Amino acid sequence: MDRPIRVLAKAVRARVKPGWLRDLLHGVPIGEPLHPPLASVTLGCWMSAAVLDAAGADPRAARLMLGTGIASALPTAAAGLTDWSSLHREQQRVGFVHMAGNLTALGLLSASLMLRLKGHERPGKALSFAGLGVGMLGAYLGGHLAYRQAAGPNHAPQVAHLVPLGWHDLCPLKDLPDGRPVARRLGYIQLFVLRRGEAVTVLADHCPHLAGPLHQGRLVMENGEACVVCPWHGSTFRLADGTVRHGPATAPAPMFETRIRRDGTIQVRPQT
Ligand code: FES
Repeated sequence: MDRPIRVLAKAVRARVKPGWLRDLLHGVPIGEPLHPPLASVTLGCWMSAAVLDAAGADPRAARLMLGTGIASALPTAAAGLTDWSSLHREQQRVGFVHMAGNLTALGLLSASLMLRLKGHERPGKALSFAGLGVGMLGAYLGGHLAYRQAAGPNHAPQVAHLVPLGWHDLCPLKDLPDGRPVARRLGYIQLFVLRRGEAVTVLADHCPHLAGPLHQGRLVMENGEACVVCPWHGSTFRLADGTVRHGPATAPAPMFETRIRRDGTIQVRPQT
């Protein structure tokens, strides 16, 4: 599957260029991935239609649920595809099958709605149940992708648990290059450390998207604010506070407060 995956991922990235639409589809404005709640709406509507069918409710109610689910499948797929285009290859393989399953479900449920609108209720219901079954399989793979393969969760939440509260010595200021980020270890975690003159900015080095090394990223100016761009998929974080300027990350990079002792040693502590 790797060849079609590569072609499709490239096409999605070329189609949904970096900018507000891509950020919106990732969920940057709401600070959480957008695909899971949209998928809940889609699958929830299809499930509701099946319950209404099973209960022998007014056929118009089931049609309404089916139609709503089909309509919401479009933004759901757009958000999912956009997320998928910035994943690791192993995740993309599972995501590809997840997508194929969901497209099959969408086809079956759309056919079901057409049949129902033409008055063929019984075969329409049968297609609905088949579509829901395939959709559940797709949802199972989506769960595997999110929970087993960690596509979507924040990859930097452990920082608060691995660094004790209080100030910690990091390194002498004079050992840091000026204007170029470097990695430094603090206990169990790696930090992104950037010296600019006497000012030092410290973030967790693992990108919240998929743990890419932020210290290898580019420094850029975004609307007059200094930011770092993750080298793996381009998530952009504001250096002033670690907030996300551009996805695919939706969670901020954990930030550390800094101070410099009289002997020139930099001290850091997690920002609470
Ligand atoms: S790891 Fe994907 S953007 Fe940083």
